[in-house]
Amino acid sequence: MTMRIAVAISGRGSNLEALLRALGPGAPAEIVLVLSDRADAAGLAHARARNIPVRVLPHPDDAGAWLGSLREHRVDLLVLAGYLKLVPASVVSAFRGRIINTHPSLLPAFGGKGMYGRRVHEAVLASGMAETGVTIHLVDEVYDRGAVLAQSRVSVLEGDTPERLAQRVLEAEHRLLPAAVLAAAAAGRPVALDQSPVASRQSVEQTPTPDPHL
Ligand code: GRF
Repeated sequence: MTMRIAVAISGRGSNLEALLRALGPGAPAEIVLVLSDRADAAGLAHARARNIPVRVLPHPDDAGAWLGSLREHRVDLLVLAGYLKLVPASVVSAFRGRIINTHPSLLPAFGGKGMYGRRVHEAVLASGMAETGVTIHLVDEVYDRGAVLAQSRVSVLEGDTPERLAQRVLEAEHRLLPAAVLAAAAAGRPVALDQSPVASRQSVEQTPTPDPHL
C-alpha cells in the first residue's frame, strides 16, 4: 500500500523538491498534501506545479486545523522539511511516531529553539568542530529532541563560510531525507536507517518483533 505523506514547509522548499523527485511514479509513498505556516512560502510552488493540495495554516498552533487537514487527506506520515514552528502537542500526540523532521546538524549538537538556517552553520563554524551534518529524527513536543533515525556527516573545510557549509549540508539533506522516507514507506512507519557504509542509504534497521509475553 502506498504511504500517504504530508510535507510541512516554511520557506524555499528544496527538501520538498528532493522528496518529490525521489517519489516518482511507482514509488511506495506519495505526497498527498503540503502544509505551510506561510502563504508566501516559495516552496509551495513545487506542490502547485504538480497539483498537490496545499493548505496554509495562518494559525499554526491551531491543532484542529492540522488534524482536520491530515485526516481529510488520510495522511500516514507527516514530514517537517524546513518547517520552523512547533507542531501543536495534540497533533504530535495523535501522530506519535509518525512525524519526522530534518535538521541541518548532528543532533543533539546545534539544535533547539532558534537554531535554524544560517544560525546553525555560524554556530558550527564558531565552535571549531571538524564536522557537522544532517539528522532525521522523530518529532516530539520539544524542538529537535525526538529519537534519531538517521544521520549523515559533512566535513567542515578550511575557509568555509556559513553559506558554503550550508550548501554542502543541504545536499546531504536532499539525499538523507528521501532515503528516510523511502525506508518508512517500506516498513510502514518511520524506522532507523542502517548506518553501515555499504547500505547507508537504503536499508532499514530490523526492529525485533516485540515478545508478546513481556
Ligand atoms: C533545511 O536545511 C532544513 O533542515 C532547515 O531549513 C532548511 C530548509 O530548506 N530546517 P528548504 O526549505 O527545504 O530548502
